[in-house]
Amino acid sequence: MITAKTKLLAIIGDPVQHSLSPVMRNASFEALGLDYVYVALNVKKEELETAVAGMQVLGFRGFNATMPHKKALCGLVDEMDEFAKFCDAVNTVDINETLYGYNTDGPGALEALKQAQADISKSVVIGAGGAGRAIAYALAKGGSEVTILNRDERKADAVAEKIRKAGLKAKSGGLNELEAQLKTASTLCHATPVGMHGHESVIPAKRLHPELTVMDAVYKTTETKLIADAKKAGCQIVPGWKMLLHQGQLSFERWTGKKAPMDVMEQALKEAMK
Ligand SMILES: NC(=O)c1ccc[n+]([C@@H]2O[C@H](COP(=O)([O-])OP(=O)(O)OC[C@H]3O[C@@H](n4cnc5c(N)ncnc54)[C@H](OP(=O)(O)O)[C@@H]3O)[C@@H](O)[C@H]2O)c1
Repeated sequence: MITAKTKLLAIIGDPVQHSLSPVMRNASFEALGLDYVYVALNVKKEELETAVAGMQVLGFRGFNATMPHKKALCGLVDEMDEFAKFCDAVNTVDINETLYGYNTDGPGALEALKQAQADISKSVVIGAGGAGRAIAYALAKGGSEVTILNRDERKADAVAEKIRKAGLKAKSGGLNELEAQLKTASTLCHATPVGMHGHESVIPAKRLHPELTVMDAVYKTTETKLIADAKKAGCQIVPGWKMLLHQGQLSFERWTGKKAPMDVMEQALKEAMK
């Protein structure tokens, strides 16, 4: 029951009505009997600052952010974790006396791979946008020798250089290097939107081999072509909803100080994706 003491959390974005977060979050609070409620708030780009100040004044415990607010939030929080700093994007905020911004994309992806016991010693990340950057940095921090491949090679080069500047290992290239790189890779992470809407993949099925763990950041109701191809090729698979689930776990545990009920969250997420 929502009472006068109920703690408030939200996801802000524009659009935000498609978000799976409220269902996943509220199911987890209910399962543990925690007095929290999580809502989706449509916030226009030009109203971000007012909305953040409003949530502070109204005593929100924190919030998640999606498009188009992740970059602008970097300028509004008081402090950021290293992942938010690296990606220049904040997707989660703790509200206490100050605003603490962090980015769970990379750690969520790494945790999903860890849970699958993936061998991340040599990884290939396809895509150098928000998700690709975050995943590549988290993999490198996790000890992986990471290669970032992108349609626009210069963007991949810039991400790899930034990772190397952080004292970690990274290489880069264009999508034409996919075949050679996949031969020796142990993990492949796909982080472009290809496959979100159509049954298509940027990775030719014949390049997948059983020694690969394949993670697709794309999540949707049906299996993506990449995940279907990877299953056929005998790869270990990590679908995109698992990355989302572990991101949910990370902020749940920060906000509540309790262990996240993973089974409940997984079930709610799967139901919401139907
Ligand atoms: N599961 C999760 O928790 C989670 C979290 C974050 C994002 N995602 C998903 O990850 C995907 C990427 O999101 P994002 O935020 O990183 O997007 P983004 O910042 O817009 O980056 C898009 C990337 O995809 C590449 N790309 C776009 N269209 C392409 C095509 N037709 N062929 C080859 N490469 C193409 C772009 O390459 P260029 O640089 O050459 O344009 C760029 O590297 C989306 O589907 C998003 O929903 C999932």
